[in-house]
Amino acid sequence: MSENDAIIDSLFARIGGTVAVAKAVEIFYAKVLADTGINKFFEGIPMEKQKEKMRQFLTYAFGAKTSYGGKSLESAHAKLVENGLNDSHVDSVMEHFVATLKELAVPDDMIREAAAIAESVRDDVLGK
Ligand code: HEM
Repeated sequence: MSENDAIIDSLFARIGGTVAVAKAVEIFYAKVLADTGINKFFEGIPMEKQKEKMRQFLTYAFGAKTSYGGKSLESAHAKLVENGLNDSHVDSVMEHFVATLKELAVPDDMIREAAAIAESVRDDVLGK
């Protein structure tokens, strides 16, 4: 498969492309910021910039770009880990992510695919 074919066939494209990912990121961070178990980690974070980073990251992680121009997930979260970020916080973020995709009526098989991609970076986020 050529790189172009891979991009056309990507989860990013199947899920609905730029518009669907932008909607998902909005809904996802609304849920995250409303969750008092995890929202303290976002105090002082400029959320419009954060949303743009997540749109870029998902475009990459869902197969529509071959690289992510931002920080490594380990360095992006290192300070948070120092401040107590652990598996239970990642679990909450995962739940909000899956609930977001359900709300957008993404089919279950694609939700499973997206969740597996998110799950695959857990140890990077936690610096393990
Ligand atoms: C699968 C799990 C996760 C993924 C894929 C992810 C992804 C990202 C990405 C792409 C960035 C931007 C990196 C950059 O600056 O280039 C970021 C930053 C950040 N993430 Fe996560 N994240 C995850 C889990 C979490 C969790 C569990 C929390 C807290 C509850 C969290 C809180 C933050 C915060 C506060 C920042 C901003 C850090 C800063 O700018 O200093 N993330 N994350």
